[in-house]
Amino acid sequence: MNNNLWYRDAIFYEIPIKSFYDSNNDGIGDFNGLTMKLDYLKDLGIDAIWLLPFYKSPLKDDGYDISDYYSILPEYGTIEDFKNFINKAHSYNIRVIADLVINHISDQNQWFIDAKSGINSKKRDWFIWSDTPDKFKDARVIFIDTESSNWAYEPRTKQYYFHRFYSQQPDLNYDNPEVREEMKNVIRYWLNLGLDGFRADAVPYLFKREGTNCENLPETHEYFREIRKMMDTEFPGTILLAEANQWPTDTKEYFGNGDEFQMAFNFPLMPRIFIALAKRSSKPIIDIINQTLDIPDDCDWCIFLRNHDELTLEMVDDEERDIMYKEYAKIPKMRLNLGIRRRLAPLVDNDRSTIELLNALIFSLPGTPILYYGDEIGMGDNIYLGDRNGVRTPMQWSYDRNAGFSGVYAEQLYAPVITNPNYNYEGVNVDSELRISSSLLNWMKKIIGVRKDYTELLGRGTIEFINNPNKRVLAYIRKYENQRMLCLFNLSRRPTYIELDLSNFKGLKPVEAFTKAPFPRIGDLPYFITMPPRGFFWFNLVIPETDDSMDFEGEDDY
Ligand code: GLC
Ligand code: CA
Repeated sequence: MNNNLWYRDAIFYEIPIKSFYDSNNDGIGDFNGLTMKLDYLKDLGIDAIWLLPFYKSPLKDDGYDISDYYSILPEYGTIEDFKNFINKAHSYNIRVIADLVINHISDQNQWFIDAKSGINSKKRDWFIWSDTPDKFKDARVIFIDTESSNWAYEPRTKQYYFHRFYSQQPDLNYDNPEVREEMKNVIRYWLNLGLDGFRADAVPYLFKREGTNCENLPETHEYFREIRKMMDTEFPGTILLAEANQWPTDTKEYFGNGDEFQMAFNFPLMPRIFIALAKRSSKPIIDIINQTLDIPDDCDWCIFLRNHDELTLEMVDDEERDIMYKEYAKIPKMRLNLGIRRRLAPLVDNDRSTIELLNALIFSLPGTPILYYGDEIGMGDNIYLGDRNGVRTPMQWSYDRNAGFSGVYAEQLYAPVITNPNYNYEGVNVDSELRISSSLLNWMKKIIGVRKDYTELLGRGTIEFINNPNKRVLAYIRKYENQRMLCLFNLSRRPTYIELDLSNFKGLKPVEAFTKAPFPRIGDLPYFITMPPRGFFWFNLVIPETDDSMDFEGEDDY
């Protein structure tokens, strides 16, 4: 495992430990359970796992409120279980990165308990205190459904402390060199135990400066460059992935000059994929890809459709947000803060063609795809569970008790399994889907396999959009050395056709990448293709070996 660019070729998969598999029947998923399910992930074709926070925590924000950075929440297992998991994952050639919650901690953390004990406490300056809640007025509130200010009053010392998220999550003071050093020690600790890197949480907010919006400040970038340098020196081959939910130019800044984050989630692209679908127009995708293309060598976007949070709409304009709410959040409960708390399948009304089209997009646009656990089987959600818990329900393994997730009585589960008739776990589960060739799970295995057939082309190739007057169809060519893939997506719900100018590829033959179905050779005339509703094609463009008249013979399907 010494390919340092492994993250550019990988398929990632996001996992909350508590939701994956319960090995000891207490109703909560754990490390041993996850270890037992590595075979499943290997078989699916996953190369890297992103683990959500598994550290000690009172779970006010599902683990993003850490009370001890050096230990594991006992319900999830022990350090031994963790090491065991990492070793087995590595033996499968699966890399593991974990959340690094760097901006804030839990108010139950000893650091904060010390700090609030008196204004002369040694830890006092590890946090940001003020006599009034008036500083940093331009910093927006993020959890707008719960918090009305970024300041919370601490009665004992009669001062306010700053928090960007829940009030139980005091922000650390990065102007204090001890804090900067301590966080590096946390990083060292977990990398020493075998992690391959981190998904750094809430990166834009580390440093705060009066008169700014306290996001993306130069000091914050500087600190991440320091961390990167330390990781490159002490733990070569490990990576940093940025959660920076910002406008395109600001998000791109996290790659630095190739000396900051190796990867960043493509937050600008994600909502615009859904907007493109809602508008039946390729324009939102083309515009945003063009704005996010030019990044330093060896850096890459991580592209996703959904994750454990609400589908965030903070960085879109009002008109786009309205379109999103209208199309995807018809019931008010579906919204949370400035976003939509739903899983992929329910978002698109469980429409199989749309689910396939969306995945075909993230597997063929430039970047590294990441899947959210359960979306590969088309899991449903439960918008009535509060906060973002509705998209964090137990993984559905079989039609046994509790979807095969745990042997406890149902009421002991950390959250109920999905029983909504349209998404009932009795049908939507790994075991059932493996038994039927047309299932979503088998289709996902197929697309992962096809992507792997073209790792370099789709992982590293360039992209060029093909102009065509039919805005319903998104058309692009990926190119890498002498390989080329023509990708077409009908974003609308009706059949349509396009005529493409493919004169640059004259003489080549499109071969559909999933089935190897051959299409007529590209000639002088515009290339004419019809597309079913929400249909897509990936055509590998090859130098023809056979006579076109043979095209109707041979393999029929996959
Ligand atoms: C990130 C996490 C989210 C968490 C927040 C505060 O946005 O993805 O789940 O609530 O940070 O830590
Ligand atoms: Ca357990």
